[in-house]
Amino acid sequence: MKLADVPTPALVVDAPIFAQNVATMAAALPGPRLRPHVKAFKSTALARRLAETGHTGFCCATVREMEGMAAAGLGQDLLLANEVLDCTRLGVLAHTARITVAVDSDQTLDAAVAGGVREVLIDVNVGLPRCGCDPADAGRLADRARALGMAVRGVMGYEGHLMREPGETKQAKVEASMAQLLAAHEATGGDVISAGGTGTYDCNPWATEIQAGSYCLMDTEYVPHAPAFGNALSLWTTVISVHPGGWAVLDAGLKALGMDHGDPTVVDAGDCWFVSDEHITFGTKAERPVAVGDKVRVLPAHVDPTVALHERMLLVEDEDVVDTWAVDLRGW
Ligand SMILES: Cc1ncc(COP(=O)(O)O)c(C=O)c1O
Repeated sequence: MKLADVPTPALVVDAPIFAQNVATMAAALPGPRLRPHVKAFKSTALARRLAETGHTGFCCATVREMEGMAAAGLGQDLLLANEVLDCTRLGVLAHTARITVAVDSDQTLDAAVAGGVREVLIDVNVGLPRCGCDPADAGRLADRARALGMAVRGVMGYEGHLMREPGETKQAKVEASMAQLLAAHEATGGDVISAGGTGTYDCNPWATEIQAGSYCLMDTEYVPHAPAFGNALSLWTTVISVHPGGWAVLDAGLKALGMDHGDPTVVDAGDCWFVSDEHITFGTKAERPVAVGDKVRVLPAHVDPTVALHERMLLVEDEDVVDTWAVDLRGW
């Protein structure tokens, strides 16, 4: 099928840009130095490409993602890099896949034990006001986990507050953040120090593995902070109305785009004015007139919530649709 014939709106992945993103990351962080985070793309088909590239351990953010990855045969080493209080479904998975869960409290540790999970990472707060225990509590939690029969694989600490730090100060701030993780690791033991993301993949040598995921598809908001990666993901849309007052309307809106990082970019055809439920209104340019029925490419400002709104992504090369990837890890 030709891209021109695809019903819109449709989520499209540019195959050469995706391949380049994957190759760039694999060259920087080969094999187990990268534990790709599936939250960014929610697709086992895409994850399989990364496994074929040598990254066979993955991070997930939800139990559903863990289940889907295991069912797809990608359960060699799955880390739920998030806190959950009901680990029953993870315990079932642990019979057929390697399952590790992040814990940052007695409650989440007790949930892992009760659910039948056998391996944990101690999740340490390294500066982002989100999950993670106080670094000073990591050793106590690890000791308690071992006393309860758990294997403690090490620590994780997500320095998400530094992904968009300016280049001049990023490395020093990541180092200070990771110093807290390394101190916690002294107390917990274990082989794994898991941290990082697309914004710090090249300035965090302290982690044994980096948890990046956005780099595969990228979005307009992230590219300035990780310029080695290109915008592989776009929304393919159709002009459904043109107004002589200088604007036109596309057939996709809030229900097809994650908007928490701002407006999407309307490629070539004009400037986004606003986005409503089913529409993007953009200002047209005199030098680039558009007509009803024209196809327009739109770049999302945030990949993760955009992908989660779609059932599939179409892999496109030279205007041909060469593959369809189900977004099969949605839900909880
Ligand atoms: C726990 C965790 N690790 C790593 C990441 C890194 O992802 P990205 O590739 O988007 O920087 C995220 C992103 O939200 C995350 O929540």
